[in-house]
Amino acid sequence: MSEKLAIAGGTAVRPQEYPTWPVCDADDEAIVLEALRSGRWGGYPEPGPYNARFCADFAKFQGSKHGILMVNGTVTMEVALKALGIGWGDEVIVPALTFAATAYAPMAAGALPVVVDVEPRSWGIDAEAVEAAITPRTRAIIAVHTGQIVCDMDAIMAIAKRHDLHVIEDCAHSPGKMWRGQGVGCIGTFGSFSHQSSKILTAGEGGTLLTDNEALARKAHSIIDCGRPKDDAGVDYNFGCNYRLGELHAALLNSQLAKFIAQMDERAVNARYFMQRLKEVPGLRGMHIDERITRLSFYRFIVAMEPEAFGGVNNDVVCDALDAEGVGCWVGYDAMSKYPLFQPHLSRLPVAVHYAEQLDPRKWSFPVAERAAQQQQIYLDEGIFRAGKDGVDAAIEAFLKLQRHPDALRKLANQ
Ligand SMILES: Cc1ncc(COP(=O)(O)O)c(C=O)c1O
Repeated sequence: MSEKLAIAGGTAVRPQEYPTWPVCDADDEAIVLEALRSGRWGGYPEPGPYNARFCADFAKFQGSKHGILMVNGTVTMEVALKALGIGWGDEVIVPALTFAATAYAPMAAGALPVVVDVEPRSWGIDAEAVEAAITPRTRAIIAVHTGQIVCDMDAIMAIAKRHDLHVIEDCAHSPGKMWRGQGVGCIGTFGSFSHQSSKILTAGEGGTLLTDNEALARKAHSIIDCGRPKDDAGVDYNFGCNYRLGELHAALLNSQLAKFIAQMDERAVNARYFMQRLKEVPGLRGMHIDERITRLSFYRFIVAMEPEAFGGVNNDVVCDALDAEGVGCWVGYDAMSKYPLFQPHLSRLPVAVHYAEQLDPRKWSFPVAERAAQQQQIYLDEGIFRAGKDGVDAAIEAFLKLQRHPDALRKLANQ
């Protein structure tokens, strides 16, 4: 019988499901029940006991002095900027290829996100583009460590030092990763982590800020707790909001953290095997794992495809066909220049009106990010890397199978 793509009615390469996410066991049930029975469900007084325990353990694990837990990994960055006094009239440099939250955060703080392109090997923020975008109003850089990569933190930190800027690391994808022996999120002034449902250290919702600076940690605690004073003297009310996370979620983060290292290591071992096998697939490469990454961890494993190797079709068609073969994947984030949010007429931000020229995506050009998003980017599900060698082999076989059917792929693209 002749082979057919699963999306065209053939048999899937991997009919059985990959391990699903999140992982929940008796320890999770026990700790949430314990928190439930404690009667202390809310996040006030901040921090609650489960919150404080998680923050201490997670900060220690990642290598930072202070952790501040809050409702998600978007407000974390907004709070970091506010704690640094960054707001109206200030500029914050962000990469062109990331989740929109990275740019929402400066906007929510009242600052202008200044978008720059990513670099081609890793799709991390391009250090040269960062330096070129610095103006007298620039106050901070947000570096996003997407997928398995870490941005070139040596270059970013050197630029920040030269221009007296703060660096915030968006580590939503990156708990556990290390750069030259240092945990990510502990290199810049703040590290921001997300615990949203799909993330690899999850409680369904939540976000953690890490910092070594005690005064900034107090300020962040205050901002998320309606501005309540957090200094010893009980004074210094801040302008804040209620971004506290409840204790049921915080409890769950404790049991999830206990399982995290084993899950991370399992993914890393299989990812290294995947990188070896990738060499067998022409026109497909994993985003570069820099030798300075001394501990590998990832949320999604990102690969770049060349359309010519897949019958000339783009990543959206390949992702649909891969999904049908049982290999879960996604085309990834759009380039910032394509997000309608940043159209000046949609943004009510006074600062955006003031800088309408800079915020007009029609005038933006980020060739690397735009080509990645429109043609090349594939985010492979983390479960593929928790199914042993067989799981990886199936993913490789699915790519090879697609390459044997360029006509069928082209037909799909034209439907
Ligand atoms: C790179 C990046 N930054 C920030 C966020 C925001 O996190 P949250 O959904 O917890 O607000 C996410 C994911 O959701 C993300 O992928």
